Amino acid sequence: MYCTDIMMEEHENILRFLTSVRSMCCKVLDGSELVSGDFRNIIDFARNYSDHHHHGKEEKFLFNEMESRMGAIGQNLIRHGMLVEHELCRAHIYDLENALKLWDKEQKTIYKLDILEAAMGYATLLSRHIKKENDVVYPFAEKHLSKEVIDSVNDKVSAFEAETEKQGIQKKYLSMIEYMIKTYGAVEDQHDLL
Ligand SMILES: [Fe+2]
Ligand SMILES: [Fe+2]
Repeated sequence: MYCTDIMMEEHENILRFLTSVRSMCCKVLDGSELVSGDFRNIIDFARNYSDHHHHGKEEKFLFNEMESRMGAIGQNLIRHGMLVEHELCRAHIYDLENALKLWDKEQKTIYKLDILEAAMGYATLLSRHIKKENDVVYPFAEKHLSKEVIDSVNDKVSAFEAETEKQGIQKKYLSMIEYMIKTYGAVEDQHDLL
């Protein structure tokens, strides 16, 4: 299915970014300098790539169809599951932004801890969320949506991709991932996610 193939590719990109976030947090915890600008990359990436570019396609094109066509299961899986988690991701990013503002004014340990907590909370939540979508939500959509609906979602995703390609969105955030990996490395090992 074209739309979920694109979105699973984005999941891989996001997971790769999150490994560098985990690595950056480890380095700060071990005593490296906390570079505000690099933590602000997380906010930029989260809002414009993970959220607007990726969650935007899920929410506007695929999940709305699942929610309106799959009865109680669609409602529970989407409205009370995936959409709630998208909101929780936004809350972590809001906390990260506030903690960075405080840190930029005064370098107190508690602000550093708040920054690490928000960044790590975001990374863990979004990794777990992606696993659920790959393993459960997308396969469920592929199985239960009609061909007509899938075709129309594919068309909308394709038009959106062409438009954002023109704006250079994919290119910008793929190079941000490479910058972060080059600067901070990647922590791949992660406890098993539910
Ligand atoms: Fe999602
Ligand atoms: Fe997703």
